Amino acid sequence: MYKIIRKRVLNPYVKSMDIHAPAIAKKAEPGQFIILRVYEGGERIPLTIADYNRVEGTVTIIFQEVGKTTQLLGNMEEGQHLLDFVGPLGEASHLEGYKKVAVIGGGLGTAIAFPQAKKLHSLGAQVHLIAGFRNKDLIILEEEMTAISDEIFITTDDGSNGNKGFVTNVLQNQIDQGNEYDLVIAIGPLPMMKAVCDLTRDYEIKTIISMNPVMIDGTGMCGGCRVTVGGKTKFACVDGPDFDGHLIDFDEAMRRQSMYKDQERSSAKDHEC
Ligand code: FES
Repeated sequence: MYKIIRKRVLNPYVKSMDIHAPAIAKKAEPGQFIILRVYEGGERIPLTIADYNRVEGTVTIIFQEVGKTTQLLGNMEEGQHLLDFVGPLGEASHLEGYKKVAVIGGGLGTAIAFPQAKKLHSLGAQVHLIAGFRNKDLIILEEEMTAISDEIFITTDDGSNGNKGFVTNVLQNQIDQGNEYDLVIAIGPLPMMKAVCDLTRDYEIKTIISMNPVMIDGTGMCGGCRVTVGGKTKFACVDGPDFDGHLIDFDEAMRRQSMYKDQERSSAKDHEC
């Protein structure tokens, strides 16, 4: 059983929890994820490790209440326990050797991009953090992001924070102003990651994205998380979740992501009853 040590509400839909899991905290690296189960017989969901504290033995997860399991999780309080918390899973991000990096987060993807940006900063890279949200009420982790970036740009789709536009507009501006990035990391909704990759492809800037497909076992056995990368089938849970964004078949990934929408809706409805 895994105790919820701290719970924070980051915006009306997004919560953060520090879970006591010393064995995972000891080995966790940016880019890796955990799979949790709230109760016996419940769904297993993968969540990216948003941060870790090796001294305290805690792992931070950040999630949006979009379905039955994340709603159940969001209703849990400090002091309660999760049934299963397995990890760290997946390949850690390879972040050594870069000089100037644009780390881009879209919505909740910002929470996933945060540990990458933090590690790059600690390795001495110059980090430009670009985060996009639908409106100002959904902005998360502003203080934390500011602390680990050399420059930060927060943009909103509706301009309610004073900066209207998409993350791709900001990235294009920065490139136009002469910033020479040797790496771009983009994490967020598939259409956003695709748009970033379309832009960076023209400038031949290496671009890493993080895939978050449906996962079942998380061990490479079930094939549920398959993605096509450079024409080859890969499993996000063991080969990723980071991949070369210029090689991903985004159209297939978007089709697969919408496959279980009906089941998810009906499961969430059952939970309401
Ligand atoms: Fe089953 Fe990746 S979740 S193969």
